[in-house]
Amino acid sequence: MVSRYKSFVYVEDLSRHIGEQVTLRGWVYDKTAKGKLVFIKLRDGSGTVQCVLFKPNVDEAIAEAAAQLTQESSVEIIGTVRAEERAPGGVELDVQDVRIHQLSANYPITPKEHGVEFLMEHRHLWLRSTRQHAIMRVRAQVVKAIRDFFDGNGFKLQDSPIFTPNACEGTSTLFETDYFDLGKAYLTQSGQLYAEATAMALGRVYTFGPTFRAEKSKTRRHLTEFWMVEPEMAWFDLNDDMDLAEDLVEYIVQHVLATSQRELLALGRDISKLEKVRRPFHRMSYSEAVEWLNANNVKLNRKQADGTEIQVDFPWGEDFGAPQEEALMTQFEKPCIIHRYPSEVKAFYMKRDPEDSRVVLAMDMLAPEGAGEIIGGSQREDDHDALLARLRHEQLPEEAFQWYLDLRKFGSVPHAGFGLGLERTVKWITGAEHIREVIPFPRMIYRIVP
Ligand code: 4AD
Ligand code: MG
Repeated sequence: MVSRYKSFVYVEDLSRHIGEQVTLRGWVYDKTAKGKLVFIKLRDGSGTVQCVLFKPNVDEAIAEAAAQLTQESSVEIIGTVRAEERAPGGVELDVQDVRIHQLSANYPITPKEHGVEFLMEHRHLWLRSTRQHAIMRVRAQVVKAIRDFFDGNGFKLQDSPIFTPNACEGTSTLFETDYFDLGKAYLTQSGQLYAEATAMALGRVYTFGPTFRAEKSKTRRHLTEFWMVEPEMAWFDLNDDMDLAEDLVEYIVQHVLATSQRELLALGRDISKLEKVRRPFHRMSYSEAVEWLNANNVKLNRKQADGTEIQVDFPWGEDFGAPQEEALMTQFEKPCIIHRYPSEVKAFYMKRDPEDSRVVLAMDMLAPEGAGEIIGGSQREDDHDALLARLRHEQLPEEAFQWYLDLRKFGSVPHAGFGLGLERTVKWITGAEHIREVIPFPRMIYRIVP
């Protein structure tokens, strides 16, 4: 893009300026000097390019400015773009001028190894390093893929509120706050309930925003603030819902493969694994999954009354944890959808399976390579009385749900939807070790700064 707003070019556009003199603006990633040569690695957010200054070609003051540059100093560099096959972006810059904007002193993140705690404390600066930069670019592409997918398939974006009067995903992970004279408000755990209302107005909708869970778990997959995209579709049943989830995930992965080869390379990601993410994915019911676990001797550790642990067969009716999900996924290279979970382990709004009242029409999508659950969804209970009974069974406050019950009184229809966790998805696609690396400023039980 040639913009009329700027008098400089971006590193990512340099290959279209070969032979031309250009102005770059950015930060010094690295600098080395060798005899009459100074090599400045300049990063500008869009990419990194090697700038080569040959001292006899420039005024002494310019050579001196280059000599002064430190890691993360901000500069403007003017030079001629030269094709260079061996360079990462295929180009280098022959420097004619260096204008220092600000000299950075004692930048805390040096090329040496730092501990994670130190890096997390310096997250505001850590984001500049190669790996983090690559992850954030992939994250932006995943968001774009999600929006393109829904916008291109007849969905309307409808934002759900963040302050809510009630729980959506169980009461144990609610963040509470005072709300003027109206009592307590809660930070939303999911935009779903509101998406159900907007779906009845607009047919196919998606809500995409931050969601909150007061998760006490310190795992590599949990944040207290994370982003979720939640499509909701009037007239969809569970099968339609699962088909849509597969289409979305395939689309996201293929979009990242098409746009982010350089980033995936920088991350050392095994691209062949992502290339296999093509429909159809695997599917099995919860009951089949339990059978598989027991047939394959995947035992559950159970604490006994005297404190000792024994190993037992997986009992039908319990929720899967990370160990079961990981064991199940060892058979697959593509994602797998597990459907029809026991109603007791799932949310109040899920519809009973008319063919087996012990289970609900729920589905979770598990991603391969140990990534775990990336999607949770279901067909919704569309019968007023059945939903009311579930609310009462879960001891949820009926008054706060009157508007939600209304949706079952005024033209109730079968409908379904799901939520895809953005960070879980980016973690899987980038191969990041920990979910804290895939959001600019992670919020976790033990961290709120920076
Ligand atoms: O399975 P969950 O809890 O489902 C819902 O919230 C539904 N209301 C969605 C819907 O049907 N519209 O969460 C959906 C997804 C999970 O599969 C996971 O990817 C992600 O949100 N997620 C988290 N990601 C990071 N940190 C956490 N604490 C998360 N909890 C859920
Ligand atoms: Mg879930």
